[in-house]
Amino acid sequence: MDKMVIEGGFPLIGEVSISGSKNASLPIIVSSIMFDGCDSEIHNVPDLEDIKTIKKLLTSLGAEIKESDKPDKLIINTSGINNYEAPYDLVKTMRASVLVLGPLLAKYKRARVSLPGGCAIGARPIDFHLNAFKLLGVTVEVEHGYVEVYADKLKGAEISFPIPSVTGTENVIMAATLAEGTTVIKNAAREPEIDDMILALNNGGADIKRTEPSVIIVNGVKKLNKLNHKVLPDRIEAGTFMVASAVTKGDIVLKDINVSHLRTVIDKLSESGAKIIINSSSSLRIKGAKTIKSVDISTAPYPDFPTDMQAQMMALMTISSGLCVITENVFENRFMHVAELIRLGASIKVRNNFAIVKGVRKLSGAEVMATDLRASASLVLAGLASSDGLTTVSRIYHLDRGYEKMEKKLSNLGAIISRVKASEPSAIPDEQVFKDLNYGKGA
Ligand code: UD1
Repeated sequence: MDKMVIEGGFPLIGEVSISGSKNASLPIIVSSIMFDGCDSEIHNVPDLEDIKTIKKLLTSLGAEIKESDKPDKLIINTSGINNYEAPYDLVKTMRASVLVLGPLLAKYKRARVSLPGGCAIGARPIDFHLNAFKLLGVTVEVEHGYVEVYADKLKGAEISFPIPSVTGTENVIMAATLAEGTTVIKNAAREPEIDDMILALNNGGADIKRTEPSVIIVNGVKKLNKLNHKVLPDRIEAGTFMVASAVTKGDIVLKDINVSHLRTVIDKLSESGAKIIINSSSSLRIKGAKTIKSVDISTAPYPDFPTDMQAQMMALMTISSGLCVITENVFENRFMHVAELIRLGASIKVRNNFAIVKGVRKLSGAEVMATDLRASASLVLAGLASSDGLTTVSRIYHLDRGYEKMEKKLSNLGAIISRVKASEPSAIPDEQVFKDLNYGKGA
C-alpha cells in the first residue's frame, strides 16, 4: 500500500486549480443509465479511485466507456446494459454504488445491489432510499446481503425524508424522473451536488424543480434525450486546500471553484484569523494567520458546515491558540482521525459526538494511518503543519478515492511531500535520505 511522506513546517504559496466534484460526478455518471439513445458526455470529471469504481460498475452492467480526447471527459454509451446487479466487491469499496438503484429502476424497473453495510464513519443504512422506492410502487426484498428492487411501473408519490440524505435524495430523483406522474420530495437534502445532477438531467429532457429549499418536485417524463454536462467544482477539495494554506500559514490562490458553495468554510476560516480575499465567483485567495484562533465547529447538512470538512478543520484547530469544541452531527463515528492526530502531538478529548481540541504550540512528525477519505486529508494537513520530523501517512488509498493528484498539487505549492509506492523497497526513506532527494524548499 502506498504511503505519503511529508516534511512539514513550510508555508504553502502559489495557485491551485480545483478539480470537478466527486460527489456530483458519481450520480451524474450513473444517471447515464437512463440515457440509452446516444453517447453521454460528462466534462470536468476528476481522476479518482471512486470514479474508476463507478466506471467499473457501469461496465459490469454492460455499458461502454469510450475513449475521449480529454482526461477529464467521460463518454458513456449505456445502450448495451443487460445486467442489473451491483456486486459486493464494488459496493464494499464505495457505498455510493447504491446510486445505481435509482436509474436502473427508472429505466429497467429492476436492480439488485449488495447492501453497503457499515463503514469507518458509521452504520450508514439505506433505509430512507428503500422506503421512498416503496412509495413509488417498488417491491423491495432483502436477501443474502443483497437488496432486490422491482416494479411493473413506477408511479409518482409524496416522499418525506426523516432527515435529509444526499444520495437518498439523488436516488429518488432519478427513480422518479421516468415515473408516471409527479413526485414531491420533502425534507430533501440541499447539497449543491444534487442541484448539479438536476441541471444535468433537466438539460437532457427531465422536469425537476427545487420549489423550496427542501422541496423538490419531479414530473415524470417519457424519455430523456442527451446527457451533456460539465460537473461543478469540488467544494470539499477547495475547502481542504484552504485549510492547507491556513495550517501552514501560507498564501494560496484557489481557482476553478464556486465561491458561493464555500460560505460556511470561508466564515469559519475567517473567524480563525485567516485572511480571505474573494477575487471572483470562481477564485479566492487565502492567507494564513500567524496566530490561529480557536473556533467551535458544528457539522450539519448543507448549507451548514459540512461533515466532509470536519477532520480538516480539526487538524487546523490542533495548533490554535485556545480551546474549541467540534461537534459531529451527521455521522456517529467520524472521529477516527483523533487518535492519529494525537500521535502527531495534538491534544484532543472525545465525548460522544464532541471533540474538545486544546491547541498546542506545535505538532511533530510521526507515522500515522488513514482511516477514511477525509481523515486522510486531515493527517496530510497535520503533517504539513508539523514543524519537526517527518510524517508518514499510510493507507492513502483512502485519499486516492477523493483527491486528484493531491501530492502533485501540494508540491506545486511548495510542500515537501512524496508518495512512496508500495512496490518500492524499504518503503520510508529516513529523514536524511528524504532531504537528499532534494524535494521542494526544505532540501
Ligand atoms: C453523502 C456524501 C458524503 C457526505 C454525506 C453527508 C456522496 C457520494 N457522499 O453521503 O461525502 O459525507 O453525504 O454530507 O455524495 N441515513 C440513514 N438512512 C439512509 C440514508 C442516510 O439513516 O437511508 C443517515 C446517515 O447514516 C447519516 C445521515 O443520514 O447519518 C446523512 O447521510 P447521507 O446524506 O445519506 O450521506 P450519503 O448520501 O451516504
